[in-house]
Amino acid sequence: MPLPLSAIPASPHENEPANAAKESAETLALLARRRSSKLMQLAEPAPSSKELDALINLAGRVPDHGKLGPWRFVVIEGEARERAGAALEQVIRNDEGVDDARRDFVRNWFKRAPACVMVVSSPRPSPKVPEWEQQLSAGAVCFNLLISAHALGYGGCWLTEWPTFDERARAALGLATEERIAGFVYLGTANMGASERVRADVSSRVSRY
Ligand SMILES: Cc1cc2nc3c(=O)[nH]c(=O)nc-3n(C[C@H](O)[C@H](O)[C@H](O)COP(=O)(O)O)c2cc1C
Repeated sequence: MPLPLSAIPASPHENEPANAAKESAETLALLARRRSSKLMQLAEPAPSSKELDALINLAGRVPDHGKLGPWRFVVIEGEARERAGAALEQVIRNDEGVDDARRDFVRNWFKRAPACVMVVSSPRPSPKVPEWEQQLSAGAVCFNLLISAHALGYGGCWLTEWPTFDERARAALGLATEERIAGFVYLGTANMGASERVRADVSSRVSRY
């Protein structure tokens, strides 16, 4: 059962005291054990529209050099999944080698999970903040959204897949030319517990200067 939205405290206003550090055994346990779900493990119900708004609000609380907010969210839920899938299908419809099965698959692209949030990296011109930093902030948004969803009680996964790398698909989904898809964060109710995967050996990737 997801937690009620009342479990999410209001975010502080500017200059209000914030908790820069607050010990939380539950956060540590979540980080130590959390896993993504596979798409096929994401069942109904999706987070409600209100829950999605709350999760997106948490997701946006990322480090962001220059306070540019160089990202935006596109919620693809309910029947919008059909419209977004149809837009993708139009893109590949007449591509060489595309058959009816592929067209159907692509048309149902966003119905593979109950809900999806497309996180768009939307860099702002800035003499001070390199685009790379702005893109990293968008990546942080994706993971913040995933962790927030897990903490509320929903399963999710962060995928890019071909639409991210297809200029035509990006345009069909409403991106401007300078924008990139940081990720599609698919969300739903995890219908089975995920078992642990192989992890990178972190210790072999640590050195001390
Ligand atoms: C930016 C990014 C893009 C990803 N895109 C894909 C993808 O397109 N297809 C895929 O199967 N996995 C993709 N993954 C990996 C999934 O998120 C995968 O489920 C995840 O690595 C599982 O790790 P976790 O259980 O620790 O969250 C991507 C990961 C990241 C960070």
